[in-house]
Amino acid sequence: MPDDLPLQSQTPDALMLFGFWYRALPANQLRRGQLAKTMLLEQPLVIGRDQQGQPFALRDACPHRGMPLSFGHFDGQQIECSYHGWRFDARSGQCQLIPSLVPDQTLKIDRIYAGSYPCEERDDFIWVFIPDPSPAGAGFSKPAPAPTPAPEIPKFVRKNQFTRSRKTSNPSPTDFA
Ligand code: FES
Repeated sequence: MPDDLPLQSQTPDALMLFGFWYRALPANQLRRGQLAKTMLLEQPLVIGRDQQGQPFALRDACPHRGMPLSFGHFDGQQIECSYHGWRFDARSGQCQLIPSLVPDQTLKIDRIYAGSYPCEERDDFIWVFIPDPSPAGAGFSKPAPAPTPAPEIPKFVRKNQFTRSRKTSNPSPTDFA
């Protein structure tokens, strides 16, 4: 299988399960203020990195009329939908502004959320937790935290590293076993 395929394309959907963390993309492909589109378990996602450097993942569908949020404007903190200009907090998905509302309308916009997924950066990848059931594309549900942190990839640790650093010369081959 070619190495340049998107990560999610390397795993057949039949082997992917809800309720787990998945690598969405390499962390170095996402700069501050940037958005990227991807698909996990047949769910369109927009993944971004805010101005503090924190990654986030939202369902790539505006809760108003379903326009992909990845087509919108991202200022590093909020995503503005390109269709009617609703604005959402990038980390939580909470609606921040509906430009067409007039002062005597009492709609509680802070109860509206774009679907938001737990998202972490670990081991040079952006990880996204796909819950079961998934966040609705449109609705009033606050984002729920993942039950576990993103998995940590096992790493090689140099055995006796501390011991070797105290030696003055000629470490033996077993120092690196
Ligand atoms: S579809 Fe996004 S604001 Fe209307």
